[in-house]
Amino acid sequence: MATKTQVKNGKSAASTKPGSTAKSATAKKTVVVTRSAPKSKSNGSESKFHKLFMDELKDIYWAEKALVKALGKMQKAATSEELVKAITDHQGQTKGHVERLEQVFELLGQEPKAKKCEAMSGLIAEGQEVVDDTEEDSAVRDAGIIICSQKIEHYEISAYGSLRTLANVMGHADAADIFSQTLSEEKDADSLLTQIAESSVNEEASAE
Ligand SMILES: [Fe+2]
Ligand SMILES: [Fe+2]
Repeated sequence: MATKTQVKNGKSAASTKPGSTAKSATAKKTVVVTRSAPKSKSNGSESKFHKLFMDELKDIYWAEKALVKALGKMQKAATSEELVKAITDHQGQTKGHVERLEQVFELLGQEPKAKKCEAMSGLIAEGQEVVDDTEEDSAVRDAGIIICSQKIEHYEISAYGSLRTLANVMGHADAADIFSQTLSEEKDADSLLTQIAESSVNEEASAE
């Protein structure tokens, strides 16, 4: 992180904020190096980047495992046959997502470890709240379940898109391929939910 001022060729590296003029009254031709030597700097950045990648991996691993259970509950709470089938199918895919993440841990020579994903925990709690606040066997409840499920899919789409990018940058092409497969299933699940909402559930809910 550029927390310390680096001055080179009369420009200040700290003056990079949008709108800043990149001018420094103290710059002139002075060369001030406040960071450590390039070699240790590079190694330090690499390991921090790797730690970020591993933390994100542990986060989505926790999320996917939690989702296997949560999707089971949502499927039981849903009424529309189409929606029940979509959730059940995606629960099956989600079990596969957990296994794929375990493959990635293995590729990286690490034991699978989960780290609580506060965001997913919140999204799952929100889904439960919608079920608690709506009538059983109602299209309104189904509409609410779809909204919460799509929020969850969008979180996963962001997570896998970012993980794929990080894996590519770090040269883990095998892991990037695995993330791509899951990413594609998350996007399909999201599209199917939109289709179910727009083709039947929303209209039925508005008539209740
Ligand atoms: Fe997933
Ligand atoms: Fe998903």
